[in-house]
Amino acid sequence: MNSVGGRDVARLLRELHEIYSKTTRHEDSILGSMTTKPDPLAVYAFTIFSHTNLADLELFPSLKEMYKDVLDLAGRIYGSNLGYVTAGATESNLIALYVAREIHGSSSKTVLAPDTVHYSVEKACRFLACRLVKIPVGNKPLDPGLLAKYVREYSPFAVVVTAGTTELGLVDPIKEVAEIASTNNVYLHVDAAYGGLIIPFLYERGLVKKNVYFYKGVSSIAVDFHKFAGAPPPAGLILFSNEEYLNASCFEYSYTLSGKICGVLGTRPGGSLAGIWAVVKGMGLDYLRDKAVWAFNVARELFLSINSVEGFEAIEPETTIVAFRHKRLPSNVILDYLAEKGLLLYKAPSIGGLRVVIMPHFNKALIGRLLDSLRSISRSTTNA
Ligand SMILES: Cc1ncc(COP(=O)(O)O)c(C=O)c1O
Repeated sequence: MNSVGGRDVARLLRELHEIYSKTTRHEDSILGSMTTKPDPLAVYAFTIFSHTNLADLELFPSLKEMYKDVLDLAGRIYGSNLGYVTAGATESNLIALYVAREIHGSSSKTVLAPDTVHYSVEKACRFLACRLVKIPVGNKPLDPGLLAKYVREYSPFAVVVTAGTTELGLVDPIKEVAEIASTNNVYLHVDAAYGGLIIPFLYERGLVKKNVYFYKGVSSIAVDFHKFAGAPPPAGLILFSNEEYLNASCFEYSYTLSGKICGVLGTRPGGSLAGIWAVVKGMGLDYLRDKAVWAFNVARELFLSINSVEGFEAIEPETTIVAFRHKRLPSNVILDYLAEKGLLLYKAPSIGGLRVVIMPHFNKALIGRLLDSLRSISRSTTNA
C-alpha cells in the first residue's frame, strides 16, 4: 500500500521518521522543562479517543464515565470534584481570573500575587484588563502577614498563589492565605500546575509542611496532569470550590447537544481526558506518591552534589526543583556549554542561574552527565 488516496504513504512515513529520529528525547537531554516522556498507556488512551471532542459530552457520553473517575480522584486529593479538563494551567489560570472578576470584580480591577507567580497569570491579567500587583517575596514562599498588608492597601478582587513555583518549586502557605482571602471576601486561586500532583503526597509523608487543598477560602485550583504525572499534553484540570464559580466559567452554545461549553477553548481533545484517566487508573495514587517521594530524594541528592562542585552554588529545594548558579560565570555561558553536551536546562532568572526540574524520565546517566559537565566547567575555571 505504497499509495493511498494519491498519497505516497511510504515516502511520507520515511520523512516522518526522519524528523522523529532528530527530535529531542526527554530521557537523553531534557533536564529543565516541566514536560516528560508520557506514559505509554496514556498515549494509547489519548490516541484511541482522538476522534472525540471533550467540549460536547452529550455527543460522546461514554466519556462521562472517565470524567467521573478523574473527578473522584480530584475530590479525594483536593477536597472538591467540581471542575473540568483544560489545555493546561495557562487556560486554567485565565478561567479562574475570569470567574473571579465576574463574581468579585465589581469594585476592583486588582489581582495580587507574589512576584514568583507564573507568566500565564500576567498574561491572563492582560487578557482581562486587570492590574496585577506583584508582592516582592525575595525567592521565598509568600509571608501571610505581608499579604494581609497588601490586601488592606490594594483591595484586590483576587489573589493568586502557587504550589510549586516555576523557578524554585516553592510552596506558598495556602491554608494561611485562604484565611485572609475568606476574611476579606477575595477570590483565591491556587496555581498548582506543577506541584499539584507532587505536594499532597510529600505532605502526607511529612516531607513538606504545606498542602494543596480546598481549605475554607480557596476558590479554585489548577493542576496539570501533563507535567509530573506524565499524561500526554494538553492535560490540565481546573477545580472550583462551588457550583457558582464553576457555572460562571461556562457559556451558552445552544447549537451543541450539551448546549454549553466551559472554559476558554471550544473543540478540545477527548484524548486529554482519556490520557488523564489512564494515568489515574493505570498508575493510581500509590504510584504517584512513590514517584513524588523519589523525585524529592533525587532533588536533595542533586542539590548536595552540585554544591560540592567548586564554583557552583545550589539553592536548597523545598520540593523537586533544583536551581543553581556559578559564582562568576553568567548563566547563559553555562546554559550554552551544557546544551553543546546535549543537556537542556532552563533559566532561573530570579537567581541569575539555571533550574533542573526532576521529572519521571530522569535516570542516573542523565544526572551523571550533568554533574560531569559541571565538574568540567569547574576544573577549567579553577585552572584559568
Ligand atoms: C506554576 C505554573 N503555572 C502555570 C504554568 C503554565 O502551564 P502550561 O504551559 O501547561 O499552560 C506553568 C508552566 O510551567 C507553571 O510552572
